[in-house]
Amino acid sequence: MPVDLTVQVGAVRLRNPILAASGTFGYGVEFAHLVDLNRLGGIVVKGLSLEPMEGAPAPRLAETQGGMLNAVGLQNIGVRAFVAEKLPVLRKYDTAIVANVFGYCVEDYAEVIRILEDAEGLAAYELNISCPNVKKGGMQFGGDPALVAEVVGTARKVASKRPLWVKLSPMVADIGLIARTAEGAGADALTIANTYPAMAIDPWTGKSRLGNQTGGLSGPCIKPITLRLVWEASKAIKIPILGVGGIETVEDVLQYLAMGATAVQVGTASFTDPVVSQRLVEGLEKALFVVKAFTIKEIRGRIFADFG
Ligand SMILES: Cc1cc2nc3c(=O)[nH]c(=O)nc-3n(C[C@H](O)[C@H](O)[C@H](O)COP(=O)(O)O)c2cc1C
Repeated sequence: MPVDLTVQVGAVRLRNPILAASGTFGYGVEFAHLVDLNRLGGIVVKGLSLEPMEGAPAPRLAETQGGMLNAVGLQNIGVRAFVAEKLPVLRKYDTAIVANVFGYCVEDYAEVIRILEDAEGLAAYELNISCPNVKKGGMQFGGDPALVAEVVGTARKVASKRPLWVKLSPMVADIGLIARTAEGAGADALTIANTYPAMAIDPWTGKSRLGNQTGGLSGPCIKPITLRLVWEASKAIKIPILGVGGIETVEDVLQYLAMGATAVQVGTASFTDPVVSQRLVEGLEKALFVVKAFTIKEIRGRIFADFG
């Protein structure tokens, strides 16, 4: 009997729980010659802003112990070019396409979604709220419950056609509070979490290894921290969670599912192995087969301990 990897993230049915994470898989189309995109559960595209953005000065990536630091500065072609040039190619694939959206004020987020509402071929929106709010002195949207409620509530009103996923910042004192706030403001699912602000310094010059002073830490070194956030959040909310942070192996995927995630996203691992997301789908199929679980739901009952 073939195994059934389908999962339901709210109203969105995914053929399997493995998605490519935003910013690490371009607009998806760049990977089409390497990866069978139809095998993936979904693709979250690079963050889209109202206007095109050039991003941060080079160097933008620095390897660290067990991970990577990036300061890409949210470079992107802008939402209109995405709709005109990338989406027509992407929507031919039989996988869920999720548009990651960001802005520097609430109106920016709303306007990007308004433009996407008229486009065909998207499964959901993912709101990146790890962004500075220029109207509130640069304070991150994702760190303040009042700002979370405002940006998610506004986006919810504009996003009448599609589910709204909200991608949380890991830099919060109480992830349960932020998760509940996003849920209360109308989020249909939460993605947990974004990168961790960090630094990489050249010891002989004292200068940053990045063009920016600081960057975002990702990769295996963050996995234990993000796993804890997923677990805490899953106890606080009823909506589904997509776990993302340091996933490289099937065991990593199983750990996130065990801590309450319904699906996962794979980021930094695609830099060392661009085919990793497809391999994880195949590996998950085998894992289910080995433990004689034929659905993702069954594997929960079969091998996961109850963490309470
Ligand atoms: C180079 C790079 C660019 C990223 N760009 C975005 C982005 O545009 N929007 C977003 O929400 N997250 C972005 N992220 C965060 C990832 O989607 C992911 O949340 C994070 O890297 C943790 O997962 P990982 O350890 O598997 O990489 C980016 C990460 C990296 C490494």
